Amino acid sequence: MKIITVSGFKGGTGKTTISALLGVAAVQEGLRVAALDLDRFTSNLSRFLHVRKEAGLKSPDHFLMMETDGGKDQSSASGRLQGFVEMARLDGYDLMIIDTSSGHQHDIYDAHLIADIILTPMNESPADMHALFTPSGAPMAPRNNYRDMVDAARFDRARAGKPRQRWSICVNRVQALPTRIGAAIQGRVESMAMATGFDDVWYLRERVAHRAISEDGMTVLDTPADGKLTMSEISGRAELRGILGQLTDNDVALAA
Ligand SMILES: Nc1ncnc2c1ncn2[C@@H]1O[C@H](COP(=O)(O)OP(=O)(O)O)[C@@H](O)[C@H]1O
Ligand SMILES: [Mg+2]
Repeated sequence: MKIITVSGFKGGTGKTTISALLGVAAVQEGLRVAALDLDRFTSNLSRFLHVRKEAGLKSPDHFLMMETDGGKDQSSASGRLQGFVEMARLDGYDLMIIDTSSGHQHDIYDAHLIADIILTPMNESPADMHALFTPSGAPMAPRNNYRDMVDAARFDRARAGKPRQRWSICVNRVQALPTRIGAAIQGRVESMAMATGFDDVWYLRERVAHRAISEDGMTVLDTPADGKLTMSEISGRAELRGILGQLTDNDVALAA
C-alpha cells in the first residue's frame, strides 16, 4: 500500500480538492483507496465523500480520525495513525490518501513520517513562494516553517532505516492562459528543488469544475448526465490521471 500525504504550510492551497480528485481518479483506475481526513476543523474531505456516496458515485473508502478527548489534547491522535495504517495495509488497500490541515500537530507530523509521498499544493503566487521556500533563520522567515517539519520527518524516518519520502510540489490553480507572473513563478519554483529538498513539481490548472465538488459530489472525472465533455474537462482529466500515474508508478491511461 502506498501512502500519499497531502499537506502544506497554509489553508486554501487545494489540499482537500487534490486529495478528493486523486482519490476519485484512483478508484476509477480500479485501485482500492482509503481516504483519511485529518482536518477535523473543517472536515471538508469527509463532507465531499459523504455527498458523493449519497449520489451513488464511485468513491474512496472514507475515514475520519476523531479525537478521543474532545480536542483538548492535539496530540491525542498521535500513535493511532500507525495502527490505522497497519490495519488498512492488512485489509488490502492499494493506496491511502491523507488530507491534512496546515499545522504542526503531532498527527500531522506522523502523517509526514509514514508517507511514501508528501504532496504539497501551492498557489501560483509570490506569497506562497515565500511561505514554502524561505529557510528558517532568514529575515522574515515564516514562524511555522513547513520545510523544517518535512526535514524532521525525513530525518526521523532515515534513522528508523526506512526509505526516504518523496516530496512533490503541486502548483495549483495555474491560469489556463499563460501569464508573465505565472511563467516567472514556475521557473522560480523549479529552481528551488535542490535547496528545498523536493523531488518534482506538478501543475494543476484553474478549473471551474473543481469548485462544485462539495455540492453534488461530481468532479471533472465524472461524466455529466448529458454524456458530453468540454475540452477543459478532457484536459482536466488528463492532468489528474497523469499526476496520479506518476505518483503511483501505475501506467494510467491518459484517455478521457
Ligand atoms: N485547481 C483548482 N481550480 C479551481 N478552484 C480550486 C482549485 N483548487 C482548489 N480550488 C478551490 O480553492 C478553495 C480552497 O481549496 P481547498 O482544497 O479547500 O484548500 P485546502 O484544503 O488547502 O484548504 C476551494 O474553494 C476549492 O474549490
Ligand atoms: Mg482542506
